[in-house]
Parts: sequence; C-alpha cells; structure tokens
Amino acid sequence: MAEKQRVCVTGSGGYIASWLVKFLLSRGYTVHGTVRDPCDEKNDHLKKLDNAAKNLKLFKADLFDYEGLSTAISGCSGVFHIACPVPFEGVPLTEEELITPALTGTKNVLEACTEAKVKKVVVVSSIAAVVYDPKWPNVAKNEDCWSDTQLLHSLEGYWPYYYLAKTLMEREAIEWSKRNLADVVTVCPGVTIGPRLQSTLNSSSLGLLKFIKGFEKSLLSDQLYLVDVRDVADALVLVYENQEAKGRYICNSYSLHNDSLTEILRNMYPNRNFPESFRERKEEVVMEERLRLSSEKLQSLGWKFRPLEETIDDSVVSFEASGDLPKQIAYSM
Ligand SMILES: NC(=O)c1ccc[n+]([C@@H]2O[C@H](COP(=O)([O-])OP(=O)(O)OC[C@H]3O[C@@H](n4cnc5c(N)ncnc54)[C@H](OP(=O)(O)O)[C@@H]3O)[C@@H](O)[C@H]2O)c1
Repeated sequence: MAEKQRVCVTGSGGYIASWLVKFLLSRGYTVHGTVRDPCDEKNDHLKKLDNAAKNLKLFKADLFDYEGLSTAISGCSGVFHIACPVPFEGVPLTEEELITPALTGTKNVLEACTEAKVKKVVVVSSIAAVVYDPKWPNVAKNEDCWSDTQLLHSLEGYWPYYYLAKTLMEREAIEWSKRNLADVVTVCPGVTIGPRLQSTLNSSSLGLLKFIKGFEKSLLSDQLYLVDVRDVADALVLVYENQEAKGRYICNSYSLHNDSLTEILRNMYPNRNFPESFRERKEEVVMEERLRLSSEKLQSLGWKFRPLEETIDDSVVSFEASGDLPKQIAYSM
C-alpha cells in the first residue's frame, strides 16, 4: 500500500473532491486540501467533516499559482489532482477559460510533485477523454480508447473545449509519469451523480436536477454514462492504495439511453408528477456495443458500485434537503 500519511487533494471543496476528503479523513489520512479561498463559506462543509479539525488543513491555491500549489503539496507522499474548470450549463466558458487552466494547473501540480518527491499521483480525468473516438470498433470502449483531439479541435462550444481540456491534461499526466519516478494513475469517471456534501450546485448535479424537473430533455446527451460520486471517491482511494494500479482507469457504472433513465425514474416514483415528456412511451433502444464503457480494469482491482436506484434516490433526498427540489409536488414545464 502507498504510504498512508499525508496527501494533498486539489480543488478539495468541489463535489467529487469533498467525498474523497471525507473518505480519506475517515481512513486516518492527514489531508492538505487546496481551495481558491479558504474563507469562502462554500468550503465550510469541509471543516465540519469527521476528523477535519485535527487532520485537514486548507491551502489557498489557484491552478495558476505554482507557489500556492507547491506549499500545499510539500510534505505529502501522495497527491489527488482534481481541480479543473467544469462547464456549467448556461455559463459559456471560452476555450481559453477551459483549456489553459486545466493544462497549466496539471503542469504546475506535477512540477510541484517532482519538487516534493511525491510517490504517487492520482489524476482525475473524465470519460470526456475517452468517448469521442468515431473510429472505435463495435466493442465496448476501454482504456485504449482516447478522444480524438484533432476532431475536437475542429469543434466549437464549451463541451468540446472541456473534452479537449480533459484529454490534453490526462495525456500530459501520462507523459510526465514516463519521465518521473512517481507512479501516476488517471481515473476517468462518467457523469457523476449522487448526494452532495457541498452547499453549492456543481455542474453534473445541476444537470440531473434540471432533467428531473423537466427543464432539460436529456442529461447532457441521449447516451448516458452514470456513476455515483461515492463510488468515484472509493475508486480514487482504491487506485491510490493499491500498488498494482497502473495507468488509466475508466470509472463508470451504467451506460444507458436517456429514455431508460426516464423509465427508471417513473418506476421509482409513480406518484411524482414528472414532466409530460417522461410519460411518452418510447421504443426500446438497442445500444451499439461501441457506445458502452467498460470499467472491467477497475473492477479487477476490486472496485464495486452501488445500484443506480440507490444513487438516484439519494440524489433526490439530497436535492430535497437543500431545497433545490420540492418534496413530491407537481412539476411544471
Ligand atoms: N461531475 C462529473 O460528472 C465529472 C465527471 C468526470 C470527471 N469530472 C472531473 O472531476 C473533477 C471535479 O469535478 P466536480 O464534478 O467535482 O466539479 P466541481 O465541484 O465544479 O469541482 C471543480 C473544482 O475545481 C476547482 N477549480 C476550477 N477552476 C480552478 C482554478 N482555476 N483554480 C483552482 N481550482 C479551480 C473548483 O474550485 P471552485 O470551487 O473555487 O470553483 C472546484 O473545487 C474535475 O476534474 C472534472 O473534470 C467530473
């Protein structure tokens, strides 16, 4: 097992990172969490986690701030690099705003890891760096599949820019690992849903909320890749602690069509007044194998994931608790 002492988590106040920090603290790690502003109340949930008073230290660091990142990473044997700009529906981000921080931040974090002689680095990439390969044959996509950067360069819009950013930053991390002594493992989660620890809405939680409320006809696209945020955090701890973990890992539990999610929601909540579009009977969609994502490599390390119904139910409870979703009332379009 990698040395279980002091680790750094970048972007620690975010959705996925908060669950990771919680799990790390519960396993006895001392955590250096980077946030852009330690005094911002949106990071207060971190201070309330079990063991946080004793074992969590927050550091101020933007992805462009090498000194800040280096101070946070100094003294750590492991680093989880999670911070990255994520498009938020309705807030248009430019190529410059998405790609430059992702790449500069990854370079800064890795350089600081070299300086601090960090032993293991876990980088959170995304299935955005996997799925966009039109030439992939008709078999489930695995870790050999990379999004086509040339094709992505030819596209405009914040999602293609994000796909490109994640692909380039993951490739950068893998290239770095060839030149350095530290082990680097990259993890590519699917669209991550489930309960939130933080008070603010992150992009993927907002996507699910808008879908349930009927403001969006699909959750990002008709083809869905879903994974529970707690299962992602588990995967990050697993690949960190397991010395057999090498290279890249797809972290996705369910590949399904948008209509199947609608069906699951209707079955789970027969008394909820879902949007009209949810009631339309759709023909069953047979999904091409090439549209599926395989997490077999991660599962072979022992990764397990919870049932989708549990994730959805816990998401709904979390939305209700935060007041984002009224309890059992009729939703109007
Ligand atoms: N959620 C998903 O569906 C999903 C799926 C696959 C991969 N991922 C990846 O998982 C990671 C976390 O995403 P998330 O879903 O947890 O979203 P999130 O809550 O928005 O987390 C993003 C984190 O990055 C930080 N960040 C963004 N720009 C930064 C900058 N210039 N300097 C320093 N920190 C910066 C944010 O800090 P602030 O709070 O200060 O903005 C936040 O802590 C990202 O790398 C994302 O690409 C997410």
